[in-house]
Order: sequence, then structure tokens, then C-alpha cells
Amino acid sequence: DDGGPQPEKHCGHGRGGMGESVTRKEDKRFITGRGNYVDDIKKPGMLHCEIVRSPHAHARIEDIDGSRAMALDGVVAVLTADDLLEHDLATMPTLMDDTQDVLVNDKVKFQSQEVAAVIAEDRYTAKDGAEKVEVEYDVLDPVVDAEEALKEDAPLIRDELEDQEDNHIFDWDTGDKEATERVFEEADVTVEQQMEYQRLHPAPIETCGAVADWDPGKDKMTVHMTSQAPHAHRTLFSQVSGIPEHKVRIVSPDVGGGFGNKVPIYPGYVVAAAASYVLERPVKWIEERSENIQTTGFARDYDMTGEIAATEDGVIEGVKVDVLANHGAYNAAAQPSKFPAGFFNIFTGSYDVDAAYGSLTGVFTNTAPGGVAYRCSFRVTEAVYLIERMVKVLADELDVDPAEIRRRNFIPSDAFPYESATGWNYDSGDYEKALDKALEMADYEHYREEQQRRIEEDADKLLGIGISSFTEVVGAGPGKQCDIAGIEMFDSADIRVNPTGNAVLRIGVQTQGQGHETTFAQIVAEELGMDVDNITVEHGDTDTEPYGLGTYGSRSTPVAGAATAVAARKVREKAKSIAANELEAAEEDIEWDRESGEFRVAGAPDRSITITEIAAGAYMNHPGDEEPGLEAVNYYDPPEMTYPFGSYIVIVEVDRETGEVDFEKFVAVDDCGNRINPMVIEGQIHGGLAQGIGTAMLEEVTYDDNGNVTGGDFMNYLLPTANEIPNFETGHTVTPSPHHPIGAKGVGESPTVGSPPAIVNAVVDAMSHAGVSHVEMPMTPDRVWETLDEAGLAI
Ligand code: CDP
Repeated sequence: DDGGPQPEKHCGHGRGGMGESVTRKEDKRFITGRGNYVDDIKKPGMLHCEIVRSPHAHARIEDIDGSRAMALDGVVAVLTADDLLEHDLATMPTLMDDTQDVLVNDKVKFQSQEVAAVIAEDRYTAKDGAEKVEVEYDVLDPVVDAEEALKEDAPLIRDELEDQEDNHIFDWDTGDKEATERVFEEADVTVEQQMEYQRLHPAPIETCGAVADWDPGKDKMTVHMTSQAPHAHRTLFSQVSGIPEHKVRIVSPDVGGGFGNKVPIYPGYVVAAAASYVLERPVKWIEERSENIQTTGFARDYDMTGEIAATEDGVIEGVKVDVLANHGAYNAAAQPSKFPAGFFNIFTGSYDVDAAYGSLTGVFTNTAPGGVAYRCSFRVTEAVYLIERMVKVLADELDVDPAEIRRRNFIPSDAFPYESATGWNYDSGDYEKALDKALEMADYEHYREEQQRRIEEDADKLLGIGISSFTEVVGAGPGKQCDIAGIEMFDSADIRVNPTGNAVLRIGVQTQGQGHETTFAQIVAEELGMDVDNITVEHGDTDTEPYGLGTYGSRSTPVAGAATAVAARKVREKAKSIAANELEAAEEDIEWDRESGEFRVAGAPDRSITITEIAAGAYMNHPGDEEPGLEAVNYYDPPEMTYPFGSYIVIVEVDRETGEVDFEKFVAVDDCGNRINPMVIEGQIHGGLAQGIGTAMLEEVTYDDNGNVTGGDFMNYLLPTANEIPNFETGHTVTPSPHHPIGAKGVGESPTVGSPPAIVNAVVDAMSHAGVSHVEMPMTPDRVWETLDEAGLAI
């Protein structure tokens, strides 16, 4: 082994290996309309499923009458919980060990919950049928707010659970409480801020859907579905249905964005499969937009109170946080089992903090279940928001520049590997370098002067400068720490080199638009000296791909990327033995040259052979003591997670008359270790920053007191468009991960995680001279104007 690629050193050898901006292979089919999404799948005899949903948030079902629907020409079946009970399919496990009704049995617990399903010859008839299903409800009082739900007189939501006497789900804590309290008692300065991370929805372009096809001849269930984790879903499907796992095939074809929304299993998938099983015909279920927003996994919904204890010079000594987490009607958060609050314990961020303590209470409410990792590693977004906001609060309290206060507290670059106060092992980082680069790109000093000038001249538009120097944790995860439904979070790669020298790479992760078909081929190109065009990447079909845990939390590169590099190196080892045979040399004399991609005899550079020639040798002239063929598999369990980081600087103008916020400058410096494809990374950063802007400025799933979803469609749940997105100036530093085979860390979620606090810090910064310490997200003009008004700044 030659130690893997070094930072930026092996870039540009022209075969499309590490560091080259290879254009995305998948784009040809996407931009020519040849993508194949679940709704594109049509099977002979296929039926369509429409779900009847409850208009009430909390109600007991008295009666369901499907006779008027059944009377419609083309309606084949109306399914209720009773039908599913017959097949033991009435409930399904959530990702957090709770049990959720597939179709409501007895009591509705959130608005739009699945009550019945109509199966018909076409989608229109199914929809007409659904409108004709008559359901009698006994409406109950709902509770949608987590704090209200914990009150003694709150309606009990989960009365079907034995021993459940209130709406409390769990308490979790981390860190050393006593040591942290001591630090707070003795500190020169303490600051406290309460802040909400509002309920968001990942809102992928493609909603969820499935085509289930039970084959009674083969006793096999094939489900094409919008899945970010096809293998894990296969195991769960098998467990729920009792169909043996080798008789279940999950295919996740092209997926139009997931962002964590397509990790859980939803009732629609199970209903489609149950209907196909009962009716022995393929059944398609495709969600509408409002169904997607109102019922599938939401994200965030954390009410947090943060505290910092520091010296009068602004050196942070302790961090405390208390959280109330609204989990909805079922505990269906997407977290590794051992972490009920996900990776929230990374709330000390990029800072060298002696003592930290966090506590969290999870609560049931009459709202849709969720708590998915929306473009984030299990609650790291909430943690990063908390600490980056709190550092700004401390900076304002002490009147120290927010860049300077960060510098005083960063974990020094020579302190890695670093163990945080809450027990996390950071692999590598150089936070000051990234901040310095961002400050330079943003022309920080100039804007600080301009900000002061505007204050002094009583200008109509105030200037605000926000910083976020975040640390991420991605690559779940070591099997010892992370699992989904008991299955350890390793990942896999299988490389088969063909006799003509090209190869097929099969990976356990599934792309939803991140460009894996290109970037994973680049890893093989780098490690085997092949041309990237000669490598095809396959994923998403459980019948052919090796078992993997799925794509979320930027885990693809840290885990499956590592598996790919290790599998390629196994192929390379075998290739050496074939090269020795072909070149008539001893195997120990064969060297691999990363730059040329050739295998050579040591000391005789003219005696060399390419991987294409070796592939031919493996099938046509294999050495007697070797098996023919050239392939390898690797299942990779990472020793630790990787810790990408970055510094974002956002400069905004706040209009004192209207409360409108305009982006003046948006600088993002990221460090994801060694970079596979700079162009793909740039795209990931742009997309994630756009989502961060949506979070900070526009998006929120809201409910009224009756439990009606008031932010459940795109008229009310506002996504940013090109109009709201400024020009992003991106930069990077490279700090390789020491334990990853190619030194890479993940990158996809950094911008969504890192940007909201930078944006909020900027808006607060525009008003902090008048004593403003916080503005809640989304920072709509009316909310900003109210803050301006309260601070005496509005005109
Ligand atoms: O798990 P997911 O693919 O969403 O996240 P990721 O591992 O952060 O990767 C996102 C995309 O960026 C993939 O196409 C990666 O191969 C690419 N990437 C890269 O080119 N270099 C890195 N160091 C990290 C990711």
C-alpha cells in the first residue's frame, strides 16, 4: 500500500481520479428525460392506491363504510386496519422502536393520518373512491405544543400503550452535570439564550412512492420504492411481513432527493405491498405534495436553552443546554438506537471546552411523527445552531469581535485527535485556517467599518455580519456506536473487473442526486489506474448490490467511499500477482505507480503493464496458484466518524422600514478532507446553502390549536427560489481524515448544518448595538420588523 492519495498531490493525472472535476455521468440521462423514478414504473395489470386520511388531529374512529367507494366502477378494494390485522400487517415498527398504525386502528393521533386505502384500476378512480369512503369520528381535544403536552391536564395521546400515563417519551442526558455546574458557579461571566429550531420538512422534489409486486409463482415480493436505505428496508419489510428476506427485493431506482425524508418506512409502502399480496397484482402508491409535507418525517422541532460560562476574556469554560423535543404522535425519529437525541452531544462544536452538560426530554404531540436527519447527521444541525448562536451571544455580552472570540476558543490544530467534553473523538481539524480564509474572502474589516458608518449616520439599512465556524460529525458509523434497528452501520463495495479491462462497482449506498455514479467511479479510477469512463457504478437493488445501511448523514464517502477504496486495493493486490506472471518477475518486485496507474518491475521502468492488460491476464492467462478472475468485496466498519468543518460569513442588509433582509455577501469555506470531485462538492455546497437560507428565512411546518397543519403545502411552506438565493463565494482548505483510506470526509450536509446560525448571527449583528440578542427562525420580514421596533430601530 502506498498510503493513499495525499492532499491535492495526485490530482489531475487525467484518468478522472481523485481531485478531478469529472462531469457527472448520471446527468446525461437526467437532462435528456431518461431518468427512471418510481412513478415512471408501469407494470402490466398494475393497480393504484389512494389513501384516505383523517381531517382531525385526535379522534376515535367509530365506523368506516367503504360501500359507496366499492360501488364505483374500477374500484377493486377498500382496505382498513381490520383487513391488515388479518395478515398481521396492521402495525409497523418505527426507527426508534415504537409501533405505528399502518392504517388507524381505533384512534387517530395526527391530522392526515392514514385511515383507509382505496385500490382501483387507475389513479383517478382511486382518488374518487377515497372521497366516497365514509368515516365516523368521535373528535377529541388535540395537543400540538410540546410544553402543553407535558401539562397534567393535557389529553393522553398514546392511551393504547400500557403504563403510558402522560405524553412524556424519554429523558436523555450527556456530559458531567456536577463538573459543569461547578464551572458555572465559579465563572466570571455566564450567558443564556432560549431559541427554537422550528419544525422543518426536507421537501424533496420527488415525494414518496412505491410499486409493490407480489409474484405468487415465485413467492417473491418486489418493491420499487423511494428509499434511502434499500437493504435496511428489505430487512424491516421481511420482519414486518414474515416473507423471508431472500424473497423480498427492494429496488430504489432514480430518487429525486431524499434529505432524510426517505429513510423511514411509511404506511403507504406497507399498504401497497399488502394490497399486492392480497390482490396478486402490482400496486402503485404515489404521494401528493401536501401528503408528503403533512405526514412524512419532519425535521428539527427542538426548543433549546443554551448557556455558556466564560472568563472575562471570553475563554469558554462550560456549556449547558436543555431541550424539549417534539417527536409527534409516534417516536419515529431517525437516530442510531444508542442515541435517542442523535448526535446532539456534539454541542461544544469547534471549541475546547472543559465541561459540558446537555439534557433533553422527548414528548408526544398530536402532530405527524418524525425527527429525521434532514441533510444532517442526526441532530447535529440543532447542536451546531445552538453553539454558534451562543458564541455570538457571548461575544455581544463581552463586546468582543465574534471572529476574535472564536479564535480564542478553537480546539488548536495540534490537539487532534481530540476528545470532547461529551466524549466524541474528533479526527482532524484546522479551524483557524478556515476562519482566516473566510475573513479574507469576505473583506471582513471593510464591512465592520461600513457597519459602524451606517450606525453613526443613522442609515435606513443596517449592516450585519454573521459568522459560523462549525464542526460536523459524519460517517455513521462505527458499528460499536451506531446501528439502525440493530444492524450495525457499516457499508460495502463490490468491484468486478471484466476481461476487457473495464469494471462494475456495486455499492451499498444509494444516490438521491449526489453524483455517486461519478465520484465512486473516481475512487476506483484513482486506486486502480483505470479511466473513470471504464467504470460503471450500480446501486439501489438489493438483489444485486452488497448489503449497505443507506445514504444519509453524509455517510456515503466516509463509509462506502472507504469500502470502495479498500475493495479496489484488494483488486490491486491480486493484480500484482497477475502482473508478476505476465512480466515474468517475482510478485514482491512488482510496484504500482499511482501517477501513471501502471504496475512495474522495480528497477526496470520499461517493464510495465496496465490494469487492462492485467484484466485480460486474469481471465486468459491466470497464474496457476491464483483463482481466475479479478474482483473483490469489502464491508467497511469505520473506526471513527469524520469531522468536516468550515467557516461561513454572511453579510446582510436589514431594512429598518420593512424588516426585509438582503444578502450582501455569502462566503463559505469548507474542509471535507481530501476532495474527490471539486465540482460535485461545489454543487453540494450550493444546494445546502440554499436549504440553509430556506431554514433561516422562510420554512416552517405550523399547526393551529386544533391540530390543523397550517404550513402543509407549498403555498404556506415556503421554499427558497432562485430569487432568494444570492451569489455564493466558496473556498476550501484540505485537512485529511487520518483514519479514512483516502483521507476524505463527507461534505453534503455541511452547508445546511453550518449556514443557518451564520445567517441568524448576521441579522442579530445588524441590531446588536441596540441590545438585540436573538431573532427566531424563519426570520420573516414581520418578525424582523417587530424586533427592530422593540429595539427602537424601526423607521
Ligand atoms: O452521503 P452523501 O452522498 O449524501 O454525502 P457525501 O459523502 O458528503 O457526498 C456527497 C457527494 O460529494 C458525493 O458525490 C461524494 O462523492 C462527493 N464528495 C467528494 O467529492 N469529496 C469528498 N471529500 C466528500 C464528498
